[in-house]
Amino acid sequence: MARITASVYTSHVPAIGAALDLGKTAEPYWQKVFSGYDFSKQWLKQRRPDVIFLVFNDHATAFSLEMIPTFAIGTAAEYAVADEGWGPRPVPKVKGHPELASHIAQSVIQDDFDLTIVNKMDVDHGLTVPLSLMCGALDPATGAWPCPVIPFAVNVVQYPVPSGRRCFNLGRAIRKAIKSYDEPLNVQIWGTGGMSHQLQGPRAGLINKDWDNRFLDRLIAEPAKLAEMPHIDYVREAGSEGIELVMWLIARGAMSDIDEGGAPPKVAHRFYHVPASNTAVGHLILENA
Ligand code: DHB
Ligand code: FE
Repeated sequence: MARITASVYTSHVPAIGAALDLGKTAEPYWQKVFSGYDFSKQWLKQRRPDVIFLVFNDHATAFSLEMIPTFAIGTAAEYAVADEGWGPRPVPKVKGHPELASHIAQSVIQDDFDLTIVNKMDVDHGLTVPLSLMCGALDPATGAWPCPVIPFAVNVVQYPVPSGRRCFNLGRAIRKAIKSYDEPLNVQIWGTGGMSHQLQGPRAGLINKDWDNRFLDRLIAEPAKLAEMPHIDYVREAGSEGIELVMWLIARGAMSDIDEGGAPPKVAHRFYHVPASNTAVGHLILENA
């Protein structure tokens, strides 16, 4: 049986990718951001998963206004890297896990969540920046990411976006799917995006530290209640792009204290810093008890 051992949550600010790629990590502004991931890089090396199920959002790189799936699961063997803004990052292609991804699609769709199956998809900073933050410098011998990744794209760009409740319940269905896979894989689930930020309109630059920290507290301690928060509260309190945070509820719903009566997860790491570019950076690592 495959099992989810831990969940990781992190912001995906594109300027972090540019800072890494342009050798700016030692600059005081960026040093403060990257210091929050020193523990995490060691942690990931020690607890290297067989597969990462990575919940992220596309920023009009793979999808456009022509077609907008609410939930899209990547079932491909590999994914090319692309981006807006600074352009494609100089990082390796992302290897997929078609067998596990197809199994999850089968199970989750039969569990009444209508996923879009994606056999070809480019991945942008929403996926590559969390990987870079957590993996650090790649093994020079292989020059590859440490393990296969199943990309799971959520629409948080074009309204209407999925509710927190639906994301949380989807996480539960993903846990069930992974548990019923017939190979003893160690799987991590990552929820990415956020925290508070607004890139447009009169409120551009909005950051809400108190709200963000309360979100982290509640994600740990009362995720089912947090999942009831309507999307308009995210927008009002955390800015128009703060809605990216609903994706964290997918990863949280996949942890074993939900439904299974298990102990709450162990908080292995928690970090919060303002600002990185226009965004509040939040990061959590939760380990299943
Ligand atoms: C920024 C943050 C994002 O989440 C994004 O997708 C693009 C830009 C920013 O802070 O600049
Ligand atoms: Fe974003």
